[in-house]
Amino acid sequence: MTSTPNSLFRHYLDSLIQRGTTRASLTEEARDVLRTWYLTAKKGGRAHSPSSPSSPSSRPEPEPVKTPPPGTAPELFPEERKPSSSITLPEGTMEEKLQYLRDLAQNWKPARDLNSLRDTMVFATGNPHTQLMLIGEAPGYYEEVQREPFVGRAGEKLNQILKAMGLSRDMVYISNIVKFRPALPNQRTNNRAPTPEEIEACLPIIMHEIQVIQPKMIIALGGTAAVGLLGEQGSVSSMRGRFHDLNGIPVRVTYHPSYLLRSDNPREKRKVWEDMLAVMERMGMPVSEKQRGYFLPRE
Ligand code: URA
Repeated sequence: MTSTPNSLFRHYLDSLIQRGTTRASLTEEARDVLRTWYLTAKKGGRAHSPSSPSSPSSRPEPEPVKTPPPGTAPELFPEERKPSSSITLPEGTMEEKLQYLRDLAQNWKPARDLNSLRDTMVFATGNPHTQLMLIGEAPGYYEEVQREPFVGRAGEKLNQILKAMGLSRDMVYISNIVKFRPALPNQRTNNRAPTPEEIEACLPIIMHEIQVIQPKMIIALGGTAAVGLLGEQGSVSSMRGRFHDLNGIPVRVTYHPSYLLRSDNPREKRKVWEDMLAVMERMGMPVSEKQRGYFLPRE
């Protein structure tokens, strides 16, 4: 039987557990795999580990991932993914509708009731009349302080990516799938990724933002945003490289800018950049020869 990176990873984890190891440092890709397994397990499914060799433990063989046929409802959070009837947008301008959503998000009961998110609501930034919407996971320390998404180090990286595309923050709309910073005990500047419950609770807000903005293109920054928005099970590496569909809007999945802070090498930068080139081409943006060559290995 063939071993895949997923199954090797699982065996590696099994061997760590057997040795009594309780801490390990993980690459972003490994985190993605774990996140996907976790999300799948939370939904009562089994973790996806294609062609997994028989496990040393008695764990049942995982089922292959099921990709829904095009046009069918996604598997995770299907109700929230279609803008739900629990939110009725007012008549008015785009700004008025966004203000309504912002006010609603501030006291959004499904999120508040979890008691696992902090109090400060961080909504969105940028130009609502844009064609390009970028969605990340949740505010962190700096975003909470400034009440604006992507203003910390990941935000600086995002600004660089936008600049390379010939764009700036005020030409696009930047938001997060979760509107509050996920809480931790004795929290200072440390952050954590949102849980599936936190994502599920906040999903109606971002889905309505999308409905108001009606972007021509969405970029999902990182696995949390991608899995939450699309409901597809997969790591960023398995979801990037093509366009997905969210209620008729093309979605490009790429690595989170903070991944590039950790894996600062031209190969990883090039992967993100190829996603951005694809977005630019699909949106009919001009792409220069210089731009096409960014982060390619030097001859
Ligand atoms: N990471 C995110 O996903 N969103 C932010 O706003 C900041 C960091």
